Amino acid sequence: MASSETNSTAASDDILDSNYDFLIKFMLLGDSGVGKTCFLHRYMEGEFRSRFTATVGVDFRLKKLEYDFPEDDGEEVKKKIHLQIWDTAGQERYRSLTKAFFRDGMGFLLLFDVGNVETFHSVRDWLSEIKEEAYCENPDIILIGNKCDLENRAVSEKQGQQLANELNVPYMETSAATGNNVTKAINTLLDMVMKRMRDYVSGMDPKTGKSGEPGNVGPETKTETQSSSSCAC
Ligand code: GTP
Ligand code: MG
Repeated sequence: MASSETNSTAASDDILDSNYDFLIKFMLLGDSGVGKTCFLHRYMEGEFRSRFTATVGVDFRLKKLEYDFPEDDGEEVKKKIHLQIWDTAGQERYRSLTKAFFRDGMGFLLLFDVGNVETFHSVRDWLSEIKEEAYCENPDIILIGNKCDLENRAVSEKQGQQLANELNVPYMETSAATGNNVTKAINTLLDMVMKRMRDYVSGMDPKTGKSGEPGNVGPETKTETQSSSSCAC
């Protein structure tokens, strides 16, 4: 499975329209200063913004993508995806506000800063909050050690990987500064969510349009067989 950008410009990317097959919502989470806003800026604009302005509340950007979606007959068809990526404030004082948005997330990018051990220690708390608030108990999550360009690390790649193994989530190291692995991390999470989506769609009865299995695909998903909410929790 592969995703590619449509020909739309960055400006038109942010315009929400109904010309899509799947609306996917990701959330960026983690302590203040881990680099969530820079990660998103790097993904959207391909640039690094070194200035630190703490995010207030929540914000989102929209990316329009085409995705090779496997059909039951083994053929792949291109599907239009509108990927909304929500950037949340890491500061504790905004927590009750940002938590209210967790339920809308279909995939979670949980970041810590490899140069700051405190942010690594917060990962378990973030994970508990995701599991409490998300649309289902077992949403798709990737653990990300950001700022892997730093020479002075406080957390090794091995420690990051060990924690991820323990938590049963994939681990990746990224750098918003150099761009290393940023797009790859988003695409990896997209593959995880789209696999869930495909399992859900292929489990649907073609006559009734209803899923035989509880799908847990997300809170607000439009597919070509189903046009409104499809949360099956
Ligand atoms: P809140 O909005 O408060 O939750 O913080 P945030 O997680 O959005 O952090 P932000 O993206 O604003 O980045 C915080 C600081 O880390 C900024 O000074 C960035 O320049 C720096 N930073 C972010 N990503 C990287 C990275 O990959 N490498 C390095 N070296 N610095 C980074
Ligand atoms: Mg921010």
